[in-house]
Amino acid sequence: MERLDKVLSNLGYGTRKEIKALAKEGLIEVDNKIVKDSGMKVNPDDMEIKISGEVINYRKYIYLIMNKPDGIVSATFDNYDETVIDLLEPEHQAFKPFPVGRLDKDTVGLLLLTNDGELNHRLISPKWHVDKVYYAEIDKTLDQNDVQKFKAGITLDDGYKCLPAELKILESNENGSRVEVTIQEGKFHQVKRMFNSIGKNVVYLKRIKFGPIDYDFNLEEGEYRELSEAEVESLKNPKCS
Ligand code: URA
Repeated sequence: MERLDKVLSNLGYGTRKEIKALAKEGLIEVDNKIVKDSGMKVNPDDMEIKISGEVINYRKYIYLIMNKPDGIVSATFDNYDETVIDLLEPEHQAFKPFPVGRLDKDTVGLLLLTNDGELNHRLISPKWHVDKVYYAEIDKTLDQNDVQKFKAGITLDDGYKCLPAELKILESNENGSRVEVTIQEGKFHQVKRMFNSIGKNVVYLKRIKFGPIDYDFNLEEGEYRELSEAEVESLKNPKCS
């Protein structure tokens, strides 16, 4: 059981003081009874809570998919730059979500955000082998030799040997290459450093898949939506990914 005002403020319905005022006005109902004491203990899983006649959508966790734009930092706070959290509506910020793994400031594309710490841990831990797929543009030619190097495990500048990765060449000529890279870990600047290790540079990077979740073409850069229940289930069940 939790205090009604705490449940509602966590869901973004206002501060505890504001919720107290709503209750005093008779605008809050629990199981169809007007509740004037906002400190009442409730079980939001079992009880129906209404504000101004509307049933609240109670959930403890939220799961968001964002199409991250260039120039935005994927952190919860930054001294200088706008963060992905700044792009969220207050009703979603109220859940205190954080990005699942990081994308660089100049990397775009699929970013998941949640306040579910356990799922976050599973999704970013290399132990669970969750595929992260990136579309990348590279400044130089690539060939099957490079594909083999990725498969064997690239050694980064700090001596770390990456897990085997898949490099799919979509197009390659003397002007550069377009590729898809699949990795199961998320070291700092990993994809860029993998290419640096073979003497090439990433000039554009976009994440297009995270486990079972695909890039959503309906989201403009900077837009986001909640994942459906089926999508959340597919993330929680690693066999599906
Ligand atoms: N690899 C990178 O180099 N940057 C990212 O943002 C993600 C993966």
